[in-house]
Amino acid sequence: MTATPAPALTAPVRFERHGLIGLLRIANPPVNALSPATVAGLIAGLAAFEAAPDLQALVIHAEGRTFVAGGDISSFEAPDFSTVPYNSFLARLEAGQRPVIALLHGTPLGGGLELAMACHRRLAVASTRLGLPEVKLGLIPGSLGTQRLPRLVGAVLALDLMQSGRMIAAPDALQAGLVDELIVAAPGLPAADGLLQAGLARVQSLLAEAGGAAALVRRSSAQTAPGGPLPADFFSQALATAARKPQYPALAGLVRCAEAAVTLPFAQGEAVEAEVFAGVLRSGASASLRHLFFAEREAAKIPGLPKDLPLREIRRVGIVGAGTMGGGIAMNFANVGIPVVLVEATPEALDRGVALVRANYAATAAKGRMSLAQVEQRMGLLQGSTDFERLSDCDLVIEAVFENMALKKEVAARLGQVCRPGAIIATNTSTLDVDAIAEATGRPADVLGTHFFSPANVMRLLEVVRGAKTAPEVLATVMKLAGRIHKVAAVSGVCYGFIGNRMAEPYMREAEFLLMEGATPAQIDAAIEAQGLAMGPCRMLDMAGIDVGAKTVIELGKAGGLPDDPSYRALCRKLFELGRFGQKTGAGYYRYAGRTALPDPEVERISAALAAEHGVQRRSDISAAEIVERLLYPLINEGALILEEGIAYRPGDIDIIWTAGYGFPDHRGGPVFLADAIGLPAIVEALTRHGQRHGAGDPHGYWRVAPLLARCAAEGRRLSDVGRG
Ligand code: COA
Repeated sequence: MTATPAPALTAPVRFERHGLIGLLRIANPPVNALSPATVAGLIAGLAAFEAAPDLQALVIHAEGRTFVAGGDISSFEAPDFSTVPYNSFLARLEAGQRPVIALLHGTPLGGGLELAMACHRRLAVASTRLGLPEVKLGLIPGSLGTQRLPRLVGAVLALDLMQSGRMIAAPDALQAGLVDELIVAAPGLPAADGLLQAGLARVQSLLAEAGGAAALVRRSSAQTAPGGPLPADFFSQALATAARKPQYPALAGLVRCAEAAVTLPFAQGEAVEAEVFAGVLRSGASASLRHLFFAEREAAKIPGLPKDLPLREIRRVGIVGAGTMGGGIAMNFANVGIPVVLVEATPEALDRGVALVRANYAATAAKGRMSLAQVEQRMGLLQGSTDFERLSDCDLVIEAVFENMALKKEVAARLGQVCRPGAIIATNTSTLDVDAIAEATGRPADVLGTHFFSPANVMRLLEVVRGAKTAPEVLATVMKLAGRIHKVAAVSGVCYGFIGNRMAEPYMREAEFLLMEGATPAQIDAAIEAQGLAMGPCRMLDMAGIDVGAKTVIELGKAGGLPDDPSYRALCRKLFELGRFGQKTGAGYYRYAGRTALPDPEVERISAALAAEHGVQRRSDISAAEIVERLLYPLINEGALILEEGIAYRPGDIDIIWTAGYGFPDHRGGPVFLADAIGLPAIVEALTRHGQRHGAGDPHGYWRVAPLLARCAAEGRRLSDVGRG
């Protein structure tokens, strides 16, 4: 087959001739997203094909790691963003009389899959994964994906794929009717090139077999959804389910679109999709989710570090401490095939820890989400030991011992001795001074914090703490490793509690003051949960352990970090003293029947007694609005301080930490994004008002407005834009 040089067309799409086949080659790295220039290039490429009547078919192929992975998410922000040019291009592409065939690899997603579905045939390599993930951005497919997918695979699977945003593997897509044929890429070439070679050859044989190019033309818009009639209440049930999550309006919108696809002519379905798309594009949920998409990717980049910094290799990981945390951390590595050595002080504690990991895997297997063979394979990667020396050949050792500075320093000193030169030493402390721990190892350049969140095998967040002396390649290695274990990572500087727990401190402080003033745990949790947070502060601490929370406060006191206020976190300390550690002891802020939290009059009695002891006035007029302001605004204020001090590199990092690690609602974008949505002047006003509440000023500075917040409010700037341009 000979390729003739292509006439120059708008980059990044080229049109070429390969014998009697026309070829549109897309090259818009990294993921061939549909930028305006790509769409323009596609339009021009199609025109070139239309102007060449001797060609029998058109093949669409993308270079690099994937077929088009979606619309360019960043272009959705543009005020003049419109799907019209792309949609009319797809209509023209499909309407042609000569076959158009998509060659798929990587992840054809969103607008990329919509392009493939407008083609007459889809050939894919077996590793391809396809999907319409727009819902994850609070959107729906806006280029007829909602109308074509049900026509190809039926409304049931289509709605499932669109509402979950999950990807479907090519072999399953073949069965479902989304892919027409699996092909094997030509060997010895980079994946995309091998696919192109095999694909062009296959198209040529298809043309020969079909006995005429026109026989290959099959338009999905003209198909009837397969799978026979649906249950009469299918769509009303789906709408009722979507109505349970009104904060994600795209879910109900997708039901409307899928129903249109199976009940209305294509053109009318198109109108329904356009109307729903316009609505969700303007929704707060979508703006928030798009913000988080880019914030998550930006968080992985460390300012000032070269992209090509040589990294250290991590082939074997050691973990000290086989408690719930240590075991959970170990699972992350075993899950991706990295061998782990789990070290404990005593055989009993080690056995308990290993048994806990096994039980966790067994529970996953019981739910059908893992095979028994996989359980054994992962357990096979986990070696337990009571011998510290076993850590000597690990490339990374994470200590996950109890949150106590003396103990952490002692373990750090031993690790400094035992770990081989070049090994990374990480501490899983959630509040303590990482620099002090780093010094204790005697090799602080090798040390950083890896703050996992409980349950460590489930929670997506990894807060990486950069010490004053952490070597750049140590930091970069751990950030890369975070991706390998499927975590979203953000960097924090060293300070009490780092980004997340430091911001949680004033939030917990106000929750406890409100309890002393007369609010109930249920009242506080309900007000916070109504804002979309997964759990209110009382339920959260009951689950994490009041002992853990109280000890953190006590350690902070020892380090001289507490305000001169005996009522500060007095309730948490009292509950700890009384052995009310939360869920695990059956009583904390609530009492528990199994996992169910029940109101406990005893807590009210304790709160009232503490109020009397500390001269706090009890009130009966605490409203949900007051709770929200008093908990969330100081948290936001602390975030502004953190930004100003350079503890966080960017506002988006704070939002990632809170949404991925603390159950903050993603449809509100994170605390900083939310602050901008509320309006900074309103927050400053409320902070000032609460500071004057008792008429006695604010002796402990609890309500002092962060200078950065005050400045942004005064200048009409968004906190989210701090540090940009
Ligand atoms: N628009 C604009 N940029 C995109 C993009 C899109 N649709 N999809 C990915 N990117 C960018 C990322 O921002 C990142 O850029 P960076 O390297 O400058 O940070 C780069 O492409 C690589 O993405 P990343 O997610 O880090 O790579 P990956 O290999 O882990 O995953 C995808 C690739 C395509 C699976 C993943 O990026 C994804 O799911 N993208 C969204 C797809 C989508 O929702 N499409 C529908 C949009 S309507």
